[in-house]
Amino acid sequence: MIDLLIKNATLLETTGTVDIAIREGVITEISPRVATAASEAQARKTIDAAGRLVLPPFVDSHFHLDSVWTRVPNATGTLKEGIDNWYAYKQTRLTVEDVYQRARAYCEHAFSMGIQAIRSHVDVCDPQLRGAEALVQLRQDLRDTIDIQLVAFPQDGYFRDTEVAGLLRKALEMGVDVVGGIPHFEQTMELGSRSIQDLMELAAEQGLLVDMHCDESDDPLSRHVETLAFHTARLGMQGRVNASHVTSMAIMDPYYVSRKLIPLMTGAEVSVIANPLINIHLGGHFHHPKHRAMAPIRELHGAGITVACAQDCNEDPWYPLGNADMLEVAHMGAHIGHMMGLDQLRTMVGMVTTGPAAIMHLERYGLERGCRANLVILDAPDYLAALRTSPQRIAVIRDGVIRNGKQ
Ligand code: FE2
Repeated sequence: MIDLLIKNATLLETTGTVDIAIREGVITEISPRVATAASEAQARKTIDAAGRLVLPPFVDSHFHLDSVWTRVPNATGTLKEGIDNWYAYKQTRLTVEDVYQRARAYCEHAFSMGIQAIRSHVDVCDPQLRGAEALVQLRQDLRDTIDIQLVAFPQDGYFRDTEVAGLLRKALEMGVDVVGGIPHFEQTMELGSRSIQDLMELAAEQGLLVDMHCDESDDPLSRHVETLAFHTARLGMQGRVNASHVTSMAIMDPYYVSRKLIPLMTGAEVSVIANPLINIHLGGHFHHPKHRAMAPIRELHGAGITVACAQDCNEDPWYPLGNADMLEVAHMGAHIGHMMGLDQLRTMVGMVTTGPAAIMHLERYGLERGCRANLVILDAPDYLAALRTSPQRIAVIRDGVIRNGKQ
């Protein structure tokens, strides 16, 4: 018996169309000729994709659900004003219910846009841990539609905020999944390095993944990613540590990047998440001529490093735009990262699907036999049209059930 049969689907990596058979929430077959008169007759439901692109769900591997849709203005458009305005919001307006309702409404919208996994940083510089409380509950409430991973994020600095070491551990006890950090925001490079060592040792001790905001800076000498890679290898955490942003790499010395840093990161299997929309907006304010303030995703991917592109923000103190559209993210990433070759554009789609899924260690993700039947049907004939037009999501399917869309 087939629960759902999708026929005539175009995939990202192959030519020609395929049919996808789904049973009990699992892809049981995916090949050019599953659909026959007999199989269609026994399928409970059939969708004719009519040559449209079918992708595994979009994965947003770097986001901030606690600040989403706060719609706090940022007059200077700088990272610093964003942090200051968020601090003021926390002091005056943040409640558990406020975070929960905003984040839930956003997640429901994100699901309709084809996102089925979100790694959200949650600010733990809060004696009441309101964001963590709200988002741990939300992760449970939305588990049937979105896989939410939470990162304990010391927004105001692991050492700058003298209370946060205890709060971060408490957030992990509450069920926050991943250890975060923000080394470039400490007052000295040395303190930044020490924060990485402390947090990496904490993650190693507790067997947790790591995802740090790292070198989100216009300072070419902000090189904390080097320290992050060193401790990753030292602690045997290869493949479990991610550096988010790393915008300073865009203006680091090319000899250092190519001969020392990238080999160090490759050896440690440190992944990278760039946030094209936010990086090009918040970075590059202080140099003339202004540079492309995004990690060099082409070079990183070319070196074999797992790379993802993510949103970071939607209508919050750092960014007034955004629409949960991962194709918009890939589109911007392609422009900033010089990824306009046809294969490179295909790679960009991977950077909002399979790349971030690998970084988040999502299990049974993908369009292969045995994977969870999570997928998105787009109203576009192929990945180029999808990137050009950001088309309507015809159907969003979760564990074999059509949860959203026209079908
Ligand atoms: Fe962020």
